[in-house]
Parts: sequence; C-alpha cells; structure tokens
Amino acid sequence: MADFPRAFICGHPIEHSRSPLIHNYWLKQFGLEGSYERIDVEPENLSAFLSGLKDAGFVGGNTTLPHKEAVYEFVENTDDAANAIGAVNTVWFEGDKLMASNTDAYGFAANLDDQLPNWRQAQRAMVFGAGGASRAILYALNEAGYEHVDLINRTLPRAQALANAFGDHINAASWEAATQLITQADLLINTTSLGMEGQPDFPAIFDKARPDALASDIVYTPLETPFLKMAKQCGQKTSDGLGMLLHQAVPGFEKWFGVKPVVDETLRALVLDDINNKGAS
Ligand code: ATR
Repeated sequence: MADFPRAFICGHPIEHSRSPLIHNYWLKQFGLEGSYERIDVEPENLSAFLSGLKDAGFVGGNTTLPHKEAVYEFVENTDDAANAIGAVNTVWFEGDKLMASNTDAYGFAANLDDQLPNWRQAQRAMVFGAGGASRAILYALNEAGYEHVDLINRTLPRAQALANAFGDHINAASWEAATQLITQADLLINTTSLGMEGQPDFPAIFDKARPDALASDIVYTPLETPFLKMAKQCGQKTSDGLGMLLHQAVPGFEKWFGVKPVVDETLRALVLDDINNKGAS
C-alpha cells in the first residue's frame, strides 16, 4: 500500500476531468506527499470500487458522471447538501466510516462570495433550468436565505417538482413569463446548457432586466457566455462559471489532505489554459 494519502476521481469516461489539474496544483503548492488519481469505473463495478477504497489506501475522492446519484444511494453517511441535492461528488473517511457530500452548492456560494460579495444581501433570484445543477443552486440560495426564487424551465413539471422539494418560496414558471418576472430579480443564474459551445444560445430576455441586478452562469465554455454578455450589456455585474468549478474542489482537498486550499489567480489561469488548449470537454 502507498505510504502517502491517495485520493481519486472516479467516473466513466474520466479522461477529460479537470479535477486532477486542480488537486495536483494544490498538492504541489503545499509540498504535500499525496496523490489524486483518475479512475475509470464502469457503473457495474461502482459498488465493488467503493467497498474496496479503504483497503486500497484511499482517504477519499470525487465522484462524477454517471455515478453521482448511485454513490448517493450507496453511502450511508450523507450530509444535508447531498440529501437535498440527491447526488454526491465528494467522499472521505472518518475512521472506517465513508462520508459523502455534494460541494457544488458550496462552490457556487464561495465563488459568489469572491466575485459578487453583495449577493447575500439580495432577496429575489431567478434560476434558469431545473436539472441536477439547478438543485445545487436552489440549495445554496435557501442556505443564503433567499426569500423568493422564480424557477424558469422549458419542461414546467420538472421545475414544479423542484419547487415542491425546495419550498413554497420557489415559483415554477415558463420562459414566456420570465421576460416580465425578470424586472423583479436581484440575482439571475443560468444552470441550463444554453450558450455552451455547440448548444443553442440563451434567449434574449433581458429587455426589462435591472442594471443593478447580479448575474452568474455555471457554464464556463465559453467563459463569457451569451447570457453573461447580455447581462453585462444591461449594466449588471457578473460572475463566470469557472469559479464554481474551482471552489467546489476546496472541501474535498481539505478533508483528504488536512489543509484548506485557496482558489488563486494562478490556478484559474492554469485551468483556463487547459480549457483553451483542449476545448469544452
Ligand atoms: P444538469 O444536471 O447539468 O443540470 P440536465 O439535468 O440535463 O443537466 O438539465 C439541463 C437543463 O437545461 C434543463 O433545465 C433543460 O430543460 P428541460 O428540463 O426542459 O429539458 C435545460 N435545457 C437544455 N437544453 C435546452 C434548450 N434547448 N432549451 C431550453 N432549455 C434547455
């Protein structure tokens, strides 16, 4: 067995993950002995992989597509964020117990604390999209005390299901309704794939948006999405999606290696360079 702490990211496929770049940067920065390994795990091998972690000398790791929901079902000790989101991206050991969390909501909030610190004073949000990413954002908004959220989705029943799960202050609404509701929003968040390279553009619905509102996209390829461009054009302060990717990695590194890393400009430039060289995948 290795005499240093081993961490992993497991998914299928896994070769495109940028997490090794992030964690290896921090390992080097702190001069720590440790590893962060990319492991391709097919769905049928997932439970055997998780059951063998301790014996293999792993201190924990990240889980990504398509395993996030399956790991949530597998691990007994899940925290509030994982329970609300119904998916796990980070696991670690406390003694012999495997613990699990979802750090996407943390990553979203920590990035906004960095980029748009006033976001915690706002009260009304508008969230576009009702998929897995949207669940993490709704959890973060609830934690931050948002009083009202308009949840916009093409497939309305999906938004209604999330409204039922996350509270009465969530109002499921259509894209048509969004053009009016946007006048009231202090914070706008895109969680859909609209505007991502190769996907349709985000629709032009900013006519009545407020210049003093804040806007955040979780898409980071391209870094300046059509959504963020429109928000800037109407005077809004914005935050791009790369920050969330970097910040969501912080709690895992701290659990596995015992030090809390910082998201700095060098790390951001390193990951941005990788995106520019290798593209969106
Ligand atoms: P994730 O887990 O990353 O959030 P997802 O569950 O596939 O991914 O959700 C993608 C989101 O983008 C959904 O809200 C989806 O809307 P539907 O629920 O109606 O499918 C939204 N989305 C994707 N393509 C879209 C499009 N062309 N127009 C409008 N919404 C779109």
